[in-house]
Amino acid sequence: MQTLETDRLTLRPFTSEDADFVLDLYSRMEVQRFLGAVPKLMKDLDEANALIQAWARLDDGTCGIWAVQDRETGDLAGTLLLKSIPASGPERKPSGDIEIGWHFHPDSWGRGYAPEAAAAVLQHAFKQGLPRVVVVIDPANTSSRRVCEKIGVVPQGSTDRYYNTVLELFTAENPG
Ligand SMILES: CC(C)(COP(=O)(O)OP(=O)(O)OC[C@H]1O[C@@H](n2cnc3c(N)ncnc32)[C@H](O)[C@@H]1OP(=O)(O)O)[C@@H](O)C(=O)NCCC(=O)NCCS
Repeated sequence: MQTLETDRLTLRPFTSEDADFVLDLYSRMEVQRFLGAVPKLMKDLDEANALIQAWARLDDGTCGIWAVQDRETGDLAGTLLLKSIPASGPERKPSGDIEIGWHFHPDSWGRGYAPEAAAAVLQHAFKQGLPRVVVVIDPANTSSRRVCEKIGVVPQGSTDRYYNTVLELFTAENPG
């Protein structure tokens, strides 16, 4: 997986040493409340380690899950995801689309880290030749909608195409 750099951030693969951070992040309701139809809080380090291992398997040189690190402090700030998005339906088959997503620790909110990191991953996705990237957000997730506006993804209205629920869809087309 390629390490990506922005002005303030380094995006690099997660390792088992990040398990405490992953648990801290995904055990918080303020982080989980818009993720999934029924938010599920992470309970222990075993779950965090299993997730880090599952994420490593998603790395195909284009898609992957990045740990976002503040370069000045070395602190982890959040997760940036570029991955296949499941279609609605009982089997959650791949939809054929690739989604970008962001999950940041509340200690790192309010600094513009999410759009900075997401813009770098979008650029990476297009450089690798992906024709299109989608974003889906819970309609009540106003902070995430602001991130969408900042990175210039285009609102396409509501969709029930993914995750067996109704979400707001945004898309970005490869400018190349
Ligand atoms: C969605 C989420 C990443 C948004 O985080 P956030 O910190 O509110 O968003 P940003 O990183 O864009 O930071 C926003 C603020 O930082 C401030 N800021 C401070 N310094 C800044 C800088 N150097 N550059 C840009 N903005 C800066 C801005 O004032 C901005 O406020 P504004 O949006 O009113 O203009 C965060 O709420 C989150 O992780 N939520 C939980 C997971 C989630 O729901 N993910 C989305 C699933 S689709």
